[in-house]
Amino acid sequence: MLSIHQLSVDIAGVQVLRQISASLSAGTTVAVVGRNGAGKTTLLRSIMGLLPVTSGDINLEGQQLLGSPAHHRARMGIGYAPEDRIIFPTLSVEENLALPCEVLGLSAKEVKERQEAVLPVVPQLKDMLQRSGAALSGGQGKMVALGRALMVGQRLVLLDEPLQGLAPVLAQQYVEAIGRLRQWQPALCVVITESNAGLLSDIPDQTWLLERGALTQASKTYFSI
Ligand SMILES: Nc1ncnc2c1ncn2[C@@H]1O[C@H](COP(=O)(O)OP(=O)(O)O)[C@@H](O)[C@H]1O
Ligand SMILES: [Mg+2]
Repeated sequence: MLSIHQLSVDIAGVQVLRQISASLSAGTTVAVVGRNGAGKTTLLRSIMGLLPVTSGDINLEGQQLLGSPAHHRARMGIGYAPEDRIIFPTLSVEENLALPCEVLGLSAKEVKERQEAVLPVVPQLKDMLQRSGAALSGGQGKMVALGRALMVGQRLVLLDEPLQGLAPVLAQQYVEAIGRLRQWQPALCVVITESNAGLLSDIPDQTWLLERGALTQASKTYFSI
């Protein structure tokens, strides 16, 4: 479903991603594991269309993504929760969740339906809906960022180091939410970056090891869930 072929990205004259080739079938979750600076964020931003790619191809269900701006990719059903989450402090949680869908021009009815579908996956959001974005703790902000990515990401969700800095209880709740995704959208592809693979327990079906911008012998561990 997601297919990356010989992807290279240069930033400021430095090669940050080196000829990455990998693919992910529908309904699969992959952990992209690598140290700080390995290129994890750059890989997600390339898939989302937030930075220019030097060479290679990225396809989602056979559709070429390169050349489409990020909002087209969001419209295709790709959701992204960046590392630095970005919760708008002047909006309520409910408005924060709805914003990307509104930007895409979805009707109020559809936005509401998507919210109703996402709440059982991230039930912690239910009691926060009316709260101001400014009143959230860092961990609550991560939950909202997950919910927001799911509102848009009906086919592919990109989560950048979601567990970083989370207290153990919240990290556990976050991992449980990811575990519910398979039931929620059986065909959904999920890409999660993490520097500490152990935190994701047995959630990923595959692991891609990223070292200095290159995928090393992808240790493809398959778990039956
Ligand atoms: N905007 C930028 N300008 C210059 N170098 C960058 C920029 N963004 C990322 N890099 C470099 O690219 C490499 C990969 O970064 P990144 O994708 O953020 O890694 P990770 O998310 O795995 O920590 C690092 O060496 C980083 O210094
Ligand atoms: Mg990063």
